[in-house]
Amino acid sequence: MTKKLFTLAGLCSLVLSAVAQTLSVQTPRTTLLLSATQGEKAKIIYYGSRLEGSDLETAARVELTQDAYPVYGMNCPVEAALSVQHPDGNCSLDLVVENATQREGAGCTITTIELKDKLYPFHVSLVYKAWQDADVIEMWSEISHQEKKPVRLVQYASAYLPVRRGQVWVSHLSGSWANEGQLTQEPLTPGMLVIKNKDGVRNSHTDHAEIMLSLDGQPQENSGRTIGAALCYGGNFKLRLETHDDEFHHLFAGINEDNSAYLLEKGETFVTPALALTFSAEGLSGSSRNFHRWARSHKLANADVERKILLNSWEGVYFDINQEGMEQMMSDIASMGGELFVMDDGWFGGKYKRKTDNAALGDWVVDEEKLPKGIQGLIDAAHQRGIKFGIWIEPEMANTTSELFEKHPDWVIQAPGRDLVLGRGGTQVVLDLANPAVQDFIFQIVDDLMTNYPAIDYIKWDANMAIMNHGSHYLPAQKQSHLHIAYHRGFEQICQRIRAKYPKLTIQACASGGGRANYGILPYFDEFWVSDNTDALQRVYMQWGTSYFFPAIAMASHISAAPNHQTSRVIPLKYRIDVAMSGRLGMEIQPKNMTDQEKELCRKAIAQYKQIRPIVQQGNIYRLLSPYDKQGAASLMYVSDSKDRAVFYWWKTEQFVNQHLARIPMSGLDPDKRYRITELNRIDPEALPFEGATFTGAYLMSNGLDLPYAHKLPYHYDYASRVLLIEEVK
Ligand code: DGJ
Repeated sequence: MTKKLFTLAGLCSLVLSAVAQTLSVQTPRTTLLLSATQGEKAKIIYYGSRLEGSDLETAARVELTQDAYPVYGMNCPVEAALSVQHPDGNCSLDLVVENATQREGAGCTITTIELKDKLYPFHVSLVYKAWQDADVIEMWSEISHQEKKPVRLVQYASAYLPVRRGQVWVSHLSGSWANEGQLTQEPLTPGMLVIKNKDGVRNSHTDHAEIMLSLDGQPQENSGRTIGAALCYGGNFKLRLETHDDEFHHLFAGINEDNSAYLLEKGETFVTPALALTFSAEGLSGSSRNFHRWARSHKLANADVERKILLNSWEGVYFDINQEGMEQMMSDIASMGGELFVMDDGWFGGKYKRKTDNAALGDWVVDEEKLPKGIQGLIDAAHQRGIKFGIWIEPEMANTTSELFEKHPDWVIQAPGRDLVLGRGGTQVVLDLANPAVQDFIFQIVDDLMTNYPAIDYIKWDANMAIMNHGSHYLPAQKQSHLHIAYHRGFEQICQRIRAKYPKLTIQACASGGGRANYGILPYFDEFWVSDNTDALQRVYMQWGTSYFFPAIAMASHISAAPNHQTSRVIPLKYRIDVAMSGRLGMEIQPKNMTDQEKELCRKAIAQYKQIRPIVQQGNIYRLLSPYDKQGAASLMYVSDSKDRAVFYWWKTEQFVNQHLARIPMSGLDPDKRYRITELNRIDPEALPFEGATFTGAYLMSNGLDLPYAHKLPYHYDYASRVLLIEEVK
């Protein structure tokens, strides 16, 4: 049988009806090859660096193939992407290709393979969306049927990818509250690695829904073939990596179906969340750059807008909000050059006041005892000081001690007939976002704030509880198992309504710290809070891991007090600044407790951050020395697209005297350009020997610079760190 090869070049939309065909899904530097022959199973032939010309045809002929979407029930002793039970009890599927199309979308090509069961009117479309300006292919499935009664979806992965066995390592993030984004790197071995989440509301405190696969042995930051995979879903997820007795590791990614069997009605289409895949031959950092570019171009809200430097009130005053205190903090951040003040938790409550965490969630009215001039008074105070104003809300939640709960006890998630399981403060509950009335209520919280106070510039959207009991007063009995899915559909609908009306509003996704670092929510949020832990040393590790998948512009990183409120560690202010400056810089501290000297250091740092902000927030990351390698230091850099400017960061991670630390070659520069070095946030009386000197990119990339292990100060000082600005000299 002759095979035809289709690529989309020059074609607007193409229905592929030839008997046997190979579909080539291309991004600038990657190729996914699929086979879709009518009446046969759809196959994945190849995923990797971009193939051209005869290689495409030869690969299609000789490569080992795998089912593009393995299903359960026929010849299926291994893991499957899809498993269902038909209304007659039959638990099997046998899907073959019915049709395939390729068409151009906005900035992307969309390839769809339509599959149909041989026996039942049951359909699955496999969709592959290839971005033309970013090396990312999104893959998902759309499941539907015309059977007489609902079909029970037991397992329903978004996508599947076979990865050729060899020296394949996986890098993944896990952790817990205040310790998010911890990196684990391990070889794939026989058996199954399951990376999953069951929180119900948040999904990145513990396991993350993203992984990297290093195909050439132990992961390297700047070399080796690397596949990155990110499930774009804010709810419960499951990634399975199965290795059994064949030539491949098998990656399945999708919604976590545990406790979430789904009854699919006749005519309804179940659209699974996308799995975003990237490939780079430039190591982990290469795949990160691909994800970051894609995030900035297509995923993250307002990614082309520079993020403001802010002071958040939380660690400064916690619940102790009052007009005078807020104004003092505004004055302080304004005097240091900040651009925004965010009032955190504690500002609201009518009948029940938000004095601590056990009351008033749901009652989004100003506590006039604390804030007699109301929100407008705060906005005016901010504007008088030349800065913007932002506010904290936690709209998906209530306390049982709230007027909202008294009025709508049926709006909360609760196992039918059982006592509530209570969260934070002993009174917190989660609202049932499956319920459209609740969705309206939550939309209204934001809409009311923004209608009454259109000058609000920033919302911090928090979520401090998991779904801890299973049950919806809204869903019918036979669809109680839809709760987790319905919650996230409701959440997305609310977010879509908010974004339709307030596209430019800056919204931070916070969820007890870093519980919402995920591509499912990023289209609606401008950034996320990486962690409630602001300890700079621990942040080096957390931010390192998080940067595998998310760009610095999205990673909120704040200078906080010493001793640190989470770890009690005393870290010098310079180091705290240098770490915070590698993400979206902010402050989370009581400035009135800072000395004038400390304020001056922050003022200078903020001014310097403004200079490097475009490089940090829009540049390309090159991670150089991993803190997880335990070499005593960590280092990374951001390089502008045109390679004319870069910022280099170096932080000591082990505090020993006279350690012998490695010199770190730089990366990502233009070997032929000449660059001048300027130290930022300098505290040493004496400049570094290379201050103001120029070097070729080639020199810097093969040698790096010799950084002193310590600062030359008249007193003992651990925690050395350096930030270097690297600028082209023409
Ligand atoms: C948890 C968040 O992560 C913190 O930053 C803070 O906003 C508190 N909630 C407020 O209750």
